[in-house]
Amino acid sequence: MQKAVAGLAFVLACGSAAAQGQVNVICSVQAEWCNMLSTVYARTTGTKINVVMKGSGEALAQLIAEKDNPKTDVWFGGTGDPHLQAAEQGLTVEYKSPSLPQLHEWAQQQAKQSGYKTVGIYSGPLGFGYNPELLAKKKLAVPKTWADLTKADYKGEIQVANPASSGTAYTMIATLVQLMGEDKAFDYLKSLHKNVGNYPRSGTGPIKAVARGETAVSISFVHDGPGEKMQGFPVETITPADGTGAEIGSMSIVKGARNMDAAKKFYEWALTPAAQEMAAAAKQFQLPSNKAAKVDARVPDFKKIKFINYDYAKYGASAERRRLIARWEKEVNALPR
Ligand code: G6P
Repeated sequence: MQKAVAGLAFVLACGSAAAQGQVNVICSVQAEWCNMLSTVYARTTGTKINVVMKGSGEALAQLIAEKDNPKTDVWFGGTGDPHLQAAEQGLTVEYKSPSLPQLHEWAQQQAKQSGYKTVGIYSGPLGFGYNPELLAKKKLAVPKTWADLTKADYKGEIQVANPASSGTAYTMIATLVQLMGEDKAFDYLKSLHKNVGNYPRSGTGPIKAVARGETAVSISFVHDGPGEKMQGFPVETITPADGTGAEIGSMSIVKGARNMDAAKKFYEWALTPAAQEMAAAAKQFQLPSNKAAKVDARVPDFKKIKFINYDYAKYGASAERRRLIARWEKEVNALPR
């Protein structure tokens, strides 16, 4: 009996020792990148890393659900708006990384406006993906502006993700509201709805469908194009001539994280140039936030894109995000197509 108790104590002791050497991460970028990060991190640090993959909106929903008993230590990647919302709701902790000065201004700004509860790890422009072969076959032109997407020719040919689960799709709504004014943007979304064949859950679903010839056009982050192309799929991207928004992909440490020290170590590592360069190695072409990270030639050239002056603080606020998504559900998604 005594032996059994001693054995149990030994198991418990080992359990807690092991727990210090692990980190639980929600990863909201593409699987290739999540897998590479976790493999390299585990191999180089000896830390056990558990990775769960979730889109930006779904990751936020999980953190809200786990609020009283968090199972996640770090939320890596995904669009910045839900990270700002998590900060506002007290789901993440303030942490001022000593690496902040090494980051681009936009990444530091993301940290500052959240009270240092999140930080920018990458950025990327919103635009359109298209399948040139399918467009040619259907005798459709390459769409060049937002207005082009509402032309009757594209009926059933466009995909964009569902904004309730996808940060990419929410970035689209926020971009259009800033570009056109809110009522005009919702009129636009209603016209667009007639042409949308499907609203998948994940932000990358639409461009993958384009690459595989399932739909002709997607509304996507343009940095998601080159990775599909590298796999041999016919896919090109373009940014709308009338202006577009960009995401500030972000990272946050969860409040009440069980492995707080390990969380901070992973966070610091993820801000290093070497870790950020892993994105391109995993065929992901966002602009890295660390100024010293090498920028792959396939990363979109921001200087050539017409950007709106995206108000990250306003559109990352909980009430605003919730309100716009609810309006989209009610006034747009509920309409027949
Ligand atoms: C892809 C993009 C990321 C983006 C993410 C958002 O992984 O490469 O840059 O942050 O999608 O995902 P979501 O499913 O929330 O739109």
